[in-house]
Amino acid sequence: MEFLHGTIERVPLPDRSVDVIISNCVINLSDDKAAVLAEAFRALRPAGRFGVSDVVVDGAADPEQRRATEQRIGCVAGALPVAAYRDLLAAAGFTGARITLTADHGDGVHSAIVQAVKPAAGQDLEMRPMRPSDADQVLAVYQAGLDTGQASFETIAPSWDGFTAARLPHLRYVDADTGTGQVAASQVSARPVYAGVVEHNLYVHPGRQAHGIGRALLSAFIAASENAGVWTIQSGVFPENAASLALHQALGFRVVGTRERLGRHHGVWRDVLMIERRSGVTGA
Ligand SMILES: CC(C)(COP(=O)(O)OP(=O)(O)OC[C@H]1O[C@@H](n2cnc3c(N)ncnc32)[C@H](O)[C@@H]1OP(=O)(O)O)[C@@H](O)C(=O)NCCC(=O)NCCS
Repeated sequence: MEFLHGTIERVPLPDRSVDVIISNCVINLSDDKAAVLAEAFRALRPAGRFGVSDVVVDGAADPEQRRATEQRIGCVAGALPVAAYRDLLAAAGFTGARITLTADHGDGVHSAIVQAVKPAAGQDLEMRPMRPSDADQVLAVYQAGLDTGQASFETIAPSWDGFTAARLPHLRYVDADTGTGQVAASQVSARPVYAGVVEHNLYVHPGRQAHGIGRALLSAFIAASENAGVWTIQSGVFPENAASLALHQALGFRVVGTRERLGRHHGVWRDVLMIERRSGVTGA
């Protein structure tokens, strides 16, 4: 056994070096919880598990009430509301978040067991959420896909602001090593009935295609989206895009139909195949 001296915001361990992180009620005491979860994500191996006990509050507990509870049990001051905890876990890249309330301390304060998983995109591939520092790479890979003329009706990649505004923050991933593969999803409708329906796009840098990155990212994305409550992933694919079509069908997408001469691309009317994958897990 070896003891290492560090802080939970800067863990003295290399990337992807541990299988499991366990801890007993300290994250609530950190004033930079996002950094704590980002460090946990960094140190875990793909498919690694995070399981800590912590103190949480249900809803936005009244500050007065919190102060009174703090007098009684201590360490409540930094406790997160359950929903905020989930959002921070998702922002760090974790999926499958489960927050189980255990002891009820009154005034909306609970002990909780917090569990989550680092998604595994493949044996040698790790998937992590897109960050602003990925902007140039993400937009360049996106543009390279558009330049094939088979990926989309779009011809010019949007700005980073435009790209991120149209895509869900918790469903935007890149492969962590090279950033040469990316997958991101948009909500198809604001209507509550479609809350679990998203449209995705998947792009791999032309110099890295046919190495299994697309498959690994798409399978990890399917799992992450199911964990996030998505039941249908849909997309439009040009019939000429054999690689995309084969890959999606291999991972459970079906062709719903052909929309004929749907739009003009470089002056040519083109058909679009509508594809979708209905989860057998979420909303089953
Ligand atoms: C579609 C795309 C994401 C696939 O990514 P990739 O990393 O090259 O794909 P993978 O290496 O993981 O291949 C997975 C499967 O896709 C299919 N595939 C990949 N390239 C193919 C090709 N040139 N022709 C036919 N099928 C192909 C195969 O079924 C393959 O499985 P296999 O290796 O068991 O045969 C990639 O080609 C790409 O970025 N294209 C440009 C952008 C684009 O068109 N995006 C999709 C918009 S709908």
